[in-house]
Amino acid sequence: MAKMKEGNMPNAHLHELFVDELKDILGAERQLLKGLKKMAASAGSEKLRTAFETHYQQTEGQIERLRAVFESLGMTARGKKCKAMEGLLAEADELIEEFQDSPEVLDAALIAAAQKVEHYEIASYGCVVTYASLMEHTEAKELLGQTLAEEKETDELLTEIAMSEANVSETA
Ligand SMILES: [Fe+2]
Repeated sequence: MAKMKEGNMPNAHLHELFVDELKDILGAERQLLKGLKKMAASAGSEKLRTAFETHYQQTEGQIERLRAVFESLGMTARGKKCKAMEGLLAEADELIEEFQDSPEVLDAALIAAAQKVEHYEIASYGCVVTYASLMEHTEAKELLGQTLAEEKETDELLTEIAMSEANVSETA
């Protein structure tokens, strides 16, 4: 358990929950690296593959940022297995298997799977940004806010790709 100067920290009752959520997110980001590699390899559209590769690099940066967050709290970064991410990536795997012979569907399926991941991450980072703010962990709040913004951008980019290529039928 982390030793913090909990006495002079506002909303100290949130501390354990905050740290637990940070461990969950760190685990989730590490798990996602593997998933993004697979999604990039399965994408048919160049734009989608590039989006996955870009987000892979962003995710590596987000892991570094989480390390800095733990450091700002005087803690060593430690992740734990994220069961939600495990489930989301297992479903992505299923979709890849199911639609690997239908390239016109596969990209749409990959976008759906990736957006579920992004929405999970947006919810998670949204919570820890709020906790950091309530406990006045200014540096942590700033770092986590940067990642939250990246996750939202990625979600929007995926929507854009879905609308511009993957889901749209020319003959509709
Ligand atoms: Fe992320």
